[in-house]
Amino acid sequence: MKYDINSFTLEEKLSLLTGKNSWQTPDANGKLPTMWLADGPHGVRKSIDENALPSTVMPCLVNIANSWNKELAYLDGQTIADDCIEKEVDLLLAPGVNIKRTPLCGRNFEYFSEDPFLAGTLAKAYIEGVQDKGIGTSLKHFALNNREYERLWQSSEADERTMREIYFTAFEIALKAKPWTVMSSYNAVNGVYAVENKWLIKDVLRGDLGFDGLVVSDWGSCKVPYRTTKASVDLIMSHNSDTVDNVKKALKDGLITMEEVDACVNRLLELLEKNQANAHKRIITTTPEQRHQNAVEIAKESFVLLKNDGVLPIKGGKIKLIENSDILIGGTGSAKVTAEYQTQTLSNELQKQLTDATIFVSPPYFNETISHTLKHELVLARQADTVILTVNGRAEGENYDREEITLSKVQEERILNVAKVNPNVVVVVYAGSAIDMRNWIDKVKAVVFAGLGGQGVNQALAEVLCGKTSPSGKLSETFPLSIEDTPTGRAIGNSMVERYTEGVFVGYRYYDTNNKPVLFPFGHGLSYAKFEYSNLKIEKKGEAEFTVSYDITNLSNIDAKEVSQVYVSDVFANVSRPEKELKGFSKDLIKAGQTVNVKVDLDFRSFAYYNQPLKRWQVDNGEFEILVGASSRDIRLKESIFIDLPEKTQLSK
Ligand code: GLC
Repeated sequence: MKYDINSFTLEEKLSLLTGKNSWQTPDANGKLPTMWLADGPHGVRKSIDENALPSTVMPCLVNIANSWNKELAYLDGQTIADDCIEKEVDLLLAPGVNIKRTPLCGRNFEYFSEDPFLAGTLAKAYIEGVQDKGIGTSLKHFALNNREYERLWQSSEADERTMREIYFTAFEIALKAKPWTVMSSYNAVNGVYAVENKWLIKDVLRGDLGFDGLVVSDWGSCKVPYRTTKASVDLIMSHNSDTVDNVKKALKDGLITMEEVDACVNRLLELLEKNQANAHKRIITTTPEQRHQNAVEIAKESFVLLKNDGVLPIKGGKIKLIENSDILIGGTGSAKVTAEYQTQTLSNELQKQLTDATIFVSPPYFNETISHTLKHELVLARQADTVILTVNGRAEGENYDREEITLSKVQEERILNVAKVNPNVVVVVYAGSAIDMRNWIDKVKAVVFAGLGGQGVNQALAEVLCGKTSPSGKLSETFPLSIEDTPTGRAIGNSMVERYTEGVFVGYRYYDTNNKPVLFPFGHGLSYAKFEYSNLKIEKKGEAEFTVSYDITNLSNIDAKEVSQVYVSDVFANVSRPEKELKGFSKDLIKAGQTVNVKVDLDFRSFAYYNQPLKRWQVDNGEFEILVGASSRDIRLKESIFIDLPEKTQLSK
């Protein structure tokens, strides 16, 4: 059904610029249908008078990213969409693709990566998963919302090349999935709030990145309604009671034109039409139990085996399990999901997998209190063949950043105490972002980074720890040696401005270019299998188009998945460029003893940097190295290619 903007009075039209309430689109006094909006990236949080309906708690986006699996990102979206359909939610306020510029950011668990190519590629698959079920999405938060400190006010100050290459690129890639909406961010960008930043929204998002859908403000971020409308942020959420009078006065004062108002109202009407046109796709194809299984499957591929001195997989014997009482399955804030499923303890799940093992279980310990059973724990730990100790990262969530990236002292001491009495300690870390493990990692035999793995996390972990499934996750953000080693250190801005002085050198782009040691590099993750890379071939398909192909052989006797990564290095660049940049990847099941051939395509943008003076993407002629690796620092194959573009095509259109 088409809606005619001329069928509304001025008052009604202006009322369409802001929400009906916290979660519904406006309806012009009942003249229009309304849409239900709901968070979040890890499951539906439909708030009815501030009580969220229970739902399936899927793995957090940090886990989706660590899976490097586009198909699972799509499945994640499909699964959450079924919950949306069941709870009559029309649009899911997700996914967030803000770049993990600092491990301190409190919302890293609900973002994908430090790398825009990985973040954008997985976000695109997630959006397609949700929207193929007829449910809308909201790609967020545009842009440069990379920490929570003073997020409502502080200006993220960055140069244009950095913004284009790092902070806009994840959005640019994800926009190929045509999200129904984009959400503007709370913070300012170079001194102008994103929610009223005409250059950011109209020139960049709409003009350069080609987004023609509805832009929704972040909740409560609008300061002056007419400025938001003028910047082409179409829908002010949540309901803003000043909107009608403020915009009406601005019209009278000539601060905004009727055309600018109509443009926003028309995009709202188009969203309502899109919602109706997709209603037929809303068919639930999973039961709650199947959604739970999907959560388990995704979690299984998201765990990162950081270290393994042969102690994993556990096949049996006497196992001492020391579990934290709080099983972290997700983060707090708008991304929090009310669970309808009671996550089982790891000991319960492990007992199901290892039926003939003897598993000693202590009462779960509480994070910050020295357990009175510690002595008892150590006695049993000494007698065990293997000790599994679960630990939690510091609290992470919206509205605040972490102040440290280490574990709490109590937990570090617990690890060290247990390691003194048993040489075979496995530490399982539940956390949403990088952890500084220097104080204890040399004392333990294995470390599994579980991320925030959703309601099925321990069911999935048990299968991985006992070897039913080989771990296949890889880090989507670098684990630095310490927070002082990161490009941003402990800088948080002065509450008014934060300067992105590191430029494009974010994450591995910084560490690798500066040859800085790290705890675990971007793209790192071990397997129970052993893979050999060989037979690199690079086929030129066009002036700046190539197909990279290579073989991966599984040398072990177990089937396993491997994430291979393709990086590009501009050998003689006319501008300062990172030592390497991820421009392709593939996750492949490789059966025991088998070889698979992997193909990855590279195009103009795989080689280009943003030429700021010319405001165009540019490829410099000359040598480029193509690097194929099991991680950013485990390069297995490499070869140089030469690009020789005629001058007129060295610049993007
Ligand atoms: C929050 C978050 C945003 C969320 C919205 C609705 O403040 O920044 O991600 O979707 O408001 O809860």
